[in-house]
Amino acid sequence: MREVLLGSKKNYQNLKDQFVFYLDNVSVDYGNCSALKDITLTVNPGEIFFVTGKSGAGKTTLLNVLAGDVKPTKGRVFGVDQNVRFISQVFQDLKLFEHRTCEENIWFSYDRSLYKNKNEFRSDMLELAKVLGIQDKLGDKVKDANGGLKQKVAMLRALMARPNVLIADEPTSSLDKESSIKLFDVLNFYNIKRKLTVIWASHNRELVKTFPGKIVHLENGKLIYSGHACFI
Ligand SMILES: Nc1ncnc2c1ncn2[C@@H]1O[C@H](COP(=O)(O)OP(=O)(O)OP(=O)(O)O)[C@@H](O)[C@H]1O
Ligand SMILES: [Mg+2]
Repeated sequence: MREVLLGSKKNYQNLKDQFVFYLDNVSVDYGNCSALKDITLTVNPGEIFFVTGKSGAGKTTLLNVLAGDVKPTKGRVFGVDQNVRFISQVFQDLKLFEHRTCEENIWFSYDRSLYKNKNEFRSDMLELAKVLGIQDKLGDKVKDANGGLKQKVAMLRALMARPNVLIADEPTSSLDKESSIKLFDVLNFYNIKRKLTVIWASHNRELVKTFPGKIVHLENGKLIYSGHACFI
């Protein structure tokens, strides 16, 4: 069961400076398969966390637990209500609308309570698209886009929702090193400017070790290491 911290709206505001997620001895079983085993983990506001491990180690399952999409078989998950801390996700399979253009996909994040008007949204979108080098591709249909462009569109869509927490599952698996670094730079900018908490799963530990942040390393569903990248 996901346990949302209880309290008045006013109290929620105070919780913003406390943890984003707290996992207390969490295990997830899919039938006979133990995808996560006794994970205890705290994610604090404004942290950048990389979840690493080989294929099948449990990275996606851990992200899904944090997002509230998978319930633990054992243990408890604490998070703060979505009204206070909004989570945006980049899924491993991206979940883009294939028959729509890249720009139309990004517009799904438009929320008029977050932007002064559509022009402000459009100008932010174009600025971010420029940084990622896809400003000329926004009119392309997603079904005609390559894997790298799709990943950038999914990331742009997630960021344009102005989240407090970004959960990204293998967001650079189709990107070369240069584009991966650029994407990280964008997230780092939001981390510094808006205190965005980032949880980023990657099988490429060597790449994410070069970025500032913490690493949670999983092997066969077990948490093997949690701490700064420089010590792993
Ligand atoms: N819905 C499911 N039903 C049954 N088993 C599942 C399900 N989802 C994941 N698993 C199993 O749980 C384990 C962890 O899977 P998970 O997808 O979390 O790993 P991962 O580290 O994200 O792998 P990858 O790098 O390939 O994305 C694997 O053994 C996988 O086969
Ligand atoms: Mg996965």
